[in-house]
Amino acid sequence: MGIALQDQKNFLYDAFTRLKSLFRKPGSTLNSQLVFSHLAVSLVSIILMAIFTGRYIFQAANFELEHNLQDLAFTASNAIELPIQEVKEGRVQPTFIRELLTRLFADNANIHFTVYNVDGRPIIASEEPLPPRATLENAPEVLQALQSDIGRGVSVRRDEHGDRYMYMAVLVQKEIEVIGILRLAVAMAPSLESARQSFLVMLMVALLIVVGVSLAGWFLANNLARPIQVLTQAAGQMEHGDLGVRVKPSGPQEILRLAEAFNSMASRLQSNVNELRAFVANASHELRTPLTTIKLRAEALSGGAMEEPEVAKRFLKEIDTEIDRLVRMVNDLLDLSRMEAGLGGGTKAPVDLSAIANEVYETFEIRAAYGQVDLRIEIEPDLPPVMGYEDQLRRVIYNLLENALKYTPPEGQTEMLLRRGPNPNTVRLLVRDTGPGISPEHLPHVFERFYRAETNPPRPGQARGSGLGLAIAKSIVEGHGGEMGVSSQLGNGTTFWADLPVN
Ligand SMILES: Nc1ncnc2c1ncn2[C@@H]1O[C@H](COP(=O)(O)OP(=O)(O)OP(=O)(O)O)[C@@H](O)[C@H]1O
Ligand SMILES: [Mg+2]
Repeated sequence: MGIALQDQKNFLYDAFTRLKSLFRKPGSTLNSQLVFSHLAVSLVSIILMAIFTGRYIFQAANFELEHNLQDLAFTASNAIELPIQEVKEGRVQPTFIRELLTRLFADNANIHFTVYNVDGRPIIASEEPLPPRATLENAPEVLQALQSDIGRGVSVRRDEHGDRYMYMAVLVQKEIEVIGILRLAVAMAPSLESARQSFLVMLMVALLIVVGVSLAGWFLANNLARPIQVLTQAAGQMEHGDLGVRVKPSGPQEILRLAEAFNSMASRLQSNVNELRAFVANASHELRTPLTTIKLRAEALSGGAMEEPEVAKRFLKEIDTEIDRLVRMVNDLLDLSRMEAGLGGGTKAPVDLSAIANEVYETFEIRAAYGQVDLRIEIEPDLPPVMGYEDQLRRVIYNLLENALKYTPPEGQTEMLLRRGPNPNTVRLLVRDTGPGISPEHLPHVFERFYRAETNPPRPGQARGSGLGLAIAKSIVEGHGGEMGVSSQLGNGTTFWADLPVN
């Protein structure tokens, strides 16, 4: 308790700024930050506690000592009231008082006493020689007792050996007349020593708490840091191309959710990358086939086929067809990627699907007749218009009808229906055929880009498609907020449906 208050303040301020700079250090780990913050909080509280409770403990020890001394002093002053009178009247020796008090303080051997006359001259004391006459310098408590209302005086000072003593003086009274003063003195060292010991025990306990709290901070930080480290490691692996990496979610709720989000992000990324790879592989494969044909024919032409006009004509026709196919495929791919990016179309407008359906029907009428397919159209009257892009919607109907006709054998039937959807806010387009149907293992894939169910070769005379038609149709329908599906059974024909929202 020797530090002055200003010093204590400076010390605390200093410690605080130093700790603060430790937290702010960039790149410090979660572990060290949490441990330091726990350490800082508990150290500051311990210092504050030490200051306040320390002071309190020492004050309480002083107070208790003073209280006990006062009780003894008043008891003793009552006991010597008569003997003082008798000494004054010369009936007993002053040593009688000493014997009496010595007996009284038999249990408190460390108490020294002096009995003074009202004029301050000592009558008798526990030790010889008698102390000098009481003055303000050598016994202020005696004068204080004489002047105070409660007849009591206290003072704390060091004796000639430097030991600290508490002095307590009380008046000895006969009724209201003061006949003497009793002064007790007791060394303060033992009581201060026990206070110091309590203070030390308290400090030790507090330090143990600091260690415990810091350990708790360490465990807490570890609990937080470990799952984050795992995540960082996984992200690093991903950076190096390992998209299959997943983390085991652990730690507190928030980090658990972060880990789950990381895993689902990784899965999504992996499937997107796989899809992209498959797409690039498919696209290159599809482009290579017509290019190879063109190259072979061109080589043949320059290698001598030119000499035979019939062959040359046929080869040139083939080259022309392949180039058409290439152009169509590249355009389809471009459209598809534009639509998937949500581009194109301009502003939406109300589109009369019935009119478009009729148009497309007319386009295919001749082809159907040529292939001996019974092509029918059935449109529910008063259908509401669909909000969307006319060209795109025409393409949906076109692609579906084209497929149906492509796969329906002669004498078969293809039907296009337009009616209200199961949800009253939609219009449903149905394209049904009596073709070979699609087997269950191919059915879930027909909307994928480049997917062709190889079991269904188109009718003779029909060109092999590139497998983009349904992908484009589906992407258009979904771009309009609609849904598209297919149902089919091998040998029983196929039905494609698309529900388009009205507004
Ligand atoms: N009505 C149908 N009946 C039987 N099989 C069909 C029918 N419609 C589509 N398919 C199968 O689904 C596959 C995918 O159709 P999609 O329209 O996407 O491609 P495509 O017709 O082969 O080529 P593209 O339309 O690009 O010219 C087809 O190759 C075919 O195997
Ligand atoms: Mg098609």
